[in-house]
Order: sequence, then structure tokens, then C-alpha cells
Amino acid sequence: MDQLRYDGRVAVVTGAGGGLGKAYALLLASRGAKVVVNDLGSARDGSGKSNFADAVVKEIKDKGGVAVADYNSVVEGEKIIKTAIDNFGRIDILINNAGILRDKSFLKLPEQDWDLIQAVHLKGAYKTTHAAWDYFRKQKYGRVIMTASNAGIYGNFGQSNYSAAKMGLVGFANTLALEGDKYNIKVNTIVPTAASRLTEDILPPEMFQAMKPELIAPVVAYMVHESFEDNGAVIDSTLGYANKLHYVRSLGTPLKKKPSDPVTIESVKQFWPQVVDMKNAKHFEKIAEVSIDLAQKLQEFEDRAKQDGDKFVYRTEY
Ligand code: NAI
Repeated sequence: MDQLRYDGRVAVVTGAGGGLGKAYALLLASRGAKVVVNDLGSARDGSGKSNFADAVVKEIKDKGGVAVADYNSVVEGEKIIKTAIDNFGRIDILINNAGILRDKSFLKLPEQDWDLIQAVHLKGAYKTTHAAWDYFRKQKYGRVIMTASNAGIYGNFGQSNYSAAKMGLVGFANTLALEGDKYNIKVNTIVPTAASRLTEDILPPEMFQAMKPELIAPVVAYMVHESFEDNGAVIDSTLGYANKLHYVRSLGTPLKKKPSDPVTIESVKQFWPQVVDMKNAKHFEKIAEVSIDLAQKLQEFEDRAKQDGDKFVYRTEY
């Protein structure tokens, strides 16, 4: 297969001073992209500032690549996009990767730790993406990555703030994928699991050794290539594997025996096993499919009512 390249493309990678972001920046630069290596250089909890990004820029330049460092916080994401425009005149690829942790069990979670996590992960991705969006639309090209987490998808003890922000990014990507599609803007989500300072005390040591960020970088790089056509996908990747995730909905059931019956708490209890039966669960690709399904349900009730000589009524009395 021909080598996939990024010549002429400008990529912004947030939080690229270390961990996963560094691996993404190095790989994209090695394939011809000009890279803005953004990193505030904070500690794991978001405190402090330093110039981690410089070492990554140096490494890229030493290998003959093109990169510039940017030390802004993603909370001021428009400044990061300006760095791309000022230095390279365009922006094609945006990898929203910067992140911090403020883990605490929910009872002990202060509001400032909630707010800071939402600010860096969710609002940070909003700020960078919003600043880049008009460039993407005008040039009819853009590739965006959001970074979610299994902590959001499945929940993880002590990470309520982080879980909420990470799942917020999935919803954010779902809508941007729709709005961007006709402008050839593809917005997809990566769910990584990798050895980094965020996971060094969470993953067992032998796992930590094996989970190199470099194994996820090719997945993310492919997802921002011009040949990548998927939009709104959520891809889990670790250890050199990748899997796609999506929601499924159970077949469900009417919550009453006859169309003229009311829906009551007791009827909900009676039909609950069918509500939560995931056998033959179905995936809907678009919200329009949910609306069609809703119209079909209404029709089914009306047809059944006619068949039974019954009347379908929206009875709400309890
Ligand atoms: P990391 O700590 O090595 O990298 C995150 C980088 O973001 C750091 O270099 C940090 O200085 C930078 N950063 C923090 N706040 C910033 C801000 N306000 N503006 C700009 N840069 C900022 O951690 P890692 O593991 O590479 O994480 C990358 C992303 O992947 C994060 O969004 C994280 O939540 C996510 N993630 C990582 C997982 C893993 O297993 N490592 C699992 C699930 C998600």
C-alpha cells in the first residue's frame, strides 16, 4: 500500500508535550504535516506551567520535520488556532487531546474540581474546534478528533467529573459530525488506553509497559487522513487493537396490553423484563431513524386498535 502522507496539511495537537499527544505529533510530522505542538506544560492535576512542548518540537525538527511550540491553555483555544494560522497560514487537522485529572469520590469532589475538568476537556475542545471551524468550512476540509475515555463510557470510581466531560465530548462530536459533513469536515472520537503519566499509578506495571502511546498514534493518524471517510465514529484503541463502539437500543415493548389501556406504574413494572431485554437490540445510525421508528409505533397502536375494534387513546389517568 502507498504510504499515507500529510504533505501540505497543518495539524494542531493539543497536550502534545508528552504521552499520547506527543506520539501523534511525531507521527504526523514524520509523514509531512506541519504541526503545532500545543502544551500548557501543567502537572497531572492541571496546576503549573512549563515548556514540555519545546522538546517535542526539537525532536521533530531534528528529524527534518516542521513544527512550532504553543504554550496556551486549551481554555483559550482560539490562541492555539491563531498559532497555526500565523505560522503556517492554515489549519486542516485538530486533535483535541489535552487533559488532566482531579480524581475524588463524588462526596468529596469540590465544585472547583468539577469545573476545572469540564473547562479543560469539554470547553477546551469547544474553544479550539470553534476557532478552527470557519477555516474548515471555507476550505471545505477538516479532520477533528475528540478524546473520550472508558471512564466515561463505563464509569470509573472516583472519576465522576472526568467521566461527565469525556462523554460530553462524544455528544459534541455526534452533532459536529452532522453539521460538518457537507463541508468535508469529519469529526471522530478516540477512546485510548495507554501508558502515560495519567495512568502510571492506575495500570498494573506489566500492562503499563505494553501499552505504548505509539500503538495508538497510527489509528488516530489514519482517522485524520484525507482518505478517512468515517464521521461520528467512536474508536477504542489500545495495545495495537482498535474497536468501534456504538449504542444499541432494545426492541422494547408497548407498556400496555390493549391500545385503550392506560400506562401505569404497575404496567411499566409488568413489562420491564421486555424493556431491558437486549436480545435483538438495534443500532440507529441517525436521529431520523428514531423518528421513523416513533411514527411506526404510533401506526402499530392505531392498527392494533382498529383490528381489535378498540380505540387508541392517550390515557393519562392513573
Ligand atoms: P498526559 O498527561 O501525558 O498528556 C496530557 C497533556 O495535556 C499533558 O502534557 C499536559 O501538560 C497537557 N495539558 C493539560 N492541561 C492542558 C491545557 N489546559 N492546555 C493545554 N495542554 C494541557 O496524558 P495522556 O494519557 O497522554 O492523555 C492524553 C488524553 O487522552 C487526555 O485527554 C486523557 O484524558 C485521554 N485519555 C488517556 C487515557 C490513557 O490511558 N492514557 C485513557 C483515556 C483517555
